[in-house]
Amino acid sequence: MAQPLSLPSVPAPSWLWGHHGEFVADPLGFVERYSRLGDVVPTRFGPLGFWLVHDPQLIGEILTTKGSSFGKDAGLRRIRVILGDGLLTSEGRQHERNSRMMQPAFRAKAVESYAAAMVETTEEVADGWAEGGEIELASELSRLALRIVARALFGADVRDAAAAVESAMTEALPLLDDRMNAVLPLPLWIPTAANRRFARARQVLDGVVYRMIEERRRAPAGTDLLSHLLAAREEGKGLTDQELRDEVMTLFLAGHETTANAMAFTLWLLAKNPDARAKVQAEVGSVLGQRRAVAEDAHRLAWTAAAVHEAMRLYPPAWFLGRQATENVELGGGRLRVPKHTVMAMSPLIVQRDPRWWDEPMAFRPERFLPGAPRPAAFTYFPFGGGKRACIGRSFALLEATLVVATLVQRVDLEMDTTREIEVKPHLTLRPAAIPAIVHRRQAAQLEATTTAFDDAVSGAHLASACPMAEKPPRAPGAIPA
Ligand code: HEM
Repeated sequence: MAQPLSLPSVPAPSWLWGHHGEFVADPLGFVERYSRLGDVVPTRFGPLGFWLVHDPQLIGEILTTKGSSFGKDAGLRRIRVILGDGLLTSEGRQHERNSRMMQPAFRAKAVESYAAAMVETTEEVADGWAEGGEIELASELSRLALRIVARALFGADVRDAAAAVESAMTEALPLLDDRMNAVLPLPLWIPTAANRRFARARQVLDGVVYRMIEERRRAPAGTDLLSHLLAAREEGKGLTDQELRDEVMTLFLAGHETTANAMAFTLWLLAKNPDARAKVQAEVGSVLGQRRAVAEDAHRLAWTAAAVHEAMRLYPPAWFLGRQATENVELGGGRLRVPKHTVMAMSPLIVQRDPRWWDEPMAFRPERFLPGAPRPAAFTYFPFGGGKRACIGRSFALLEATLVVATLVQRVDLEMDTTREIEVKPHLTLRPAAIPAIVHRRQAAQLEATTTAFDDAVSGAHLASACPMAEKPPRAPGAIPA
């Protein structure tokens, strides 16, 4: 019989709310503090067990081999008020069917057709920045990512729809954050000012999305994502308008802020680490020179892609994954008994900075993700989750982040005050607080100078071999040895 895992005792919580108040007051601090107590830390939110899990093997089991004993947690279910039953929030057979129908549109080859929209939109945004002017990088990138996902979903010719979605999303997101974190969110029918603003924003979003669905149903099939979703069939049946609305809304939400944050943290960390920045600048000069990036360049921009991965290791945009046990379940070969209804809270942020798995974990070292580097052990790096509920947009996000960062590095130098530490905001996603940056346009001569300095041996090696993260997310590890 396997020896049971001994769980640490935790400071006594409020008898009514448990540790929830402490979590809401400072989510990141809460997870960091309690994670020091052990690999499985049994806190409590009201009557519910809320266990923090930092053991990669247990995380692997929860997300993969034992995944069918868990559903999404109640916190995530709260965003159903806007997402409905899209891929992120739905469960069971509906999730499996819609996931199967949507997968082909998100394969690495399929998403390459959005590369042009990604690069052109980035150029438009960067060209709008005045030389010597100050921008707030995090929100600029958030708008950019929203525009990119809107163009990918609806096509390039619907800028008015994209603009309407942009402003309604900007209105709805902070209100959604509040709902996620509230101890008891007020029902939407109570006419508070926040609820009314939220209802208005949702109405605008619904209006745009239903209009686009109707227009696309009438028009000949295009190459945008919505056309792919409209054409998807299983047993002869397609997605209903309601399902399409929920999936489109989900892709907007899941697909923009996460990627924007990954890009913002990457650019910030490159500003802070001049050696890594010089490598990326030189690579961009050598691979792209002055020309516009295309999809195939993403495979050649090994340093740039590695910088994105390393930024997501230190600052994973989806910093917190929750699963709730739908039955009593045993993990770790019987060493851990999880009662039904317990929430298992897993944070890539904690695991990906754990010195047991990462050498000098707080150092920004893109080399860890260069081709030829050892692949991280299973579930010591999982910014896109894992198992059946892993991120469907992974290839889209990696292509986008690599091409956007490369295009920005090609066109501008962003001067930031790197003497201070970056402030992070753990909302729905892990977001950087404001990042003021001064824009300096790069001249052709600067690009050439950095290119000459680029070590051909290094770049050649990258072109020849695959990135260690080019494969699928990690598979389940074996059970914990007793
Ligand atoms: C760097 C960018 C991104 C990160 C870090 C990220 C991260 C994640 C993670 C961790 C999950 C799993 C959540 C869980 O297990 O509870 C997820 C799910 C999902 N993501 Fe992403 N994501 C990113 C970009 C995108 C993009 C660009 C799209 C779409 C265009 C997208 C669409 C989705 C969807 C639909 C799901 C739900 C999948 C399912 O449950 O079947 N994501 N994402």
